[in-house]
Amino acid sequence: MENSRQHRRLQERDRLAALGEMAAGLAHEVKNPLGAIKGAAQLLGDAGSRLDAAEREFVGIILEEVERLDRVVGSVLDYARPSKGELHAVDAGAVVRRTLTVLASDRAGDWDVETDIAEGLPLIRADAEQLRQVLMNLVRNAIQAVGGRGKVRVSAAVRERGPGASVNDGPEWVEISVRDEGPGIPPQVLEKLFVPFFTTKPTGTGLGLAVSQRLVEEMGGRIEVTSRPGAGSTFTVVLPVARDALGAPRSSREPARREHASSAPAE
Ligand SMILES: Nc1ncnc2c1ncn2[C@@H]1O[C@H](COP(=O)(O)OP(=O)(O)OP(=O)(O)O)[C@@H](O)[C@H]1O
Ligand SMILES: [Mg+2]
Repeated sequence: MENSRQHRRLQERDRLAALGEMAAGLAHEVKNPLGAIKGAAQLLGDAGSRLDAAEREFVGIILEEVERLDRVVGSVLDYARPSKGELHAVDAGAVVRRTLTVLASDRAGDWDVETDIAEGLPLIRADAEQLRQVLMNLVRNAIQAVGGRGKVRVSAAVRERGPGASVNDGPEWVEISVRDEGPGIPPQVLEKLFVPFFTTKPTGTGLGLAVSQRLVEEMGGRIEVTSRPGAGSTFTVVLPVARDALGAPRSSREPARREHASSAPAE
């Protein structure tokens, strides 16, 4: 029985690999014409004064839907052919702040995110751009989960070492957590979270978490999830501390920061 189960698992893996290749090929083919459609629609939109209200609305719809397709295609490509990241010593707090800045600039709607970055956090070994992409996916999910009614909190701290670890070695991991007060995740969803194309959202691609997990694992880290139905969810990205030539952890020497970001302009 164990044998046939393993056989089925392998078959499933091959099937997914073939599907991934096909999806990547398709996504690639779709990307160029999509760019042309977007350019043409933008030109039409720029001639706005010559269009009547209904025509302007149609152009708006074309642009919005093209953006959406472009995002989907981008995610498929990210998943099927992730670009090789470059690992550097990265300041996790800075990446968190940058993520929220980008999110504030490209996203309408009601949201409110608190950050809590621990003091004197060691630098981590990561690709800053890819880490930002991962945090973007997690924070977007959290914002969607609370749907404007509840807190989202992003924190970064050292993961405490287990018992028996030598104090002299310093911390080994830093964890960045995204916690929301949304509805939580039922067990039958929990087990499929990271499966590509699994989504419970009407316009989701189901690639956000699959891509994120892939990127984090390539950086030598992992994503952990805890959730209690009714009490929200926490997604934690755990990444290794960057070490200098002597093996000592490198510190960002940044003071602790507690901040607030939201979609509403300040004041
Ligand atoms: N914070 C969360 N709270 C509750 N459910 C979540 C949360 N994050 C993810 N999920 C569940 O996991 C599913 C998969 O998430 P994932 O980010 O991979 O795709 P998606 O959000 O549905 O689509 P996309 O990210 O492409 O917009 C979601 O559809 C949702 O059911
Ligand atoms: Mg998502």
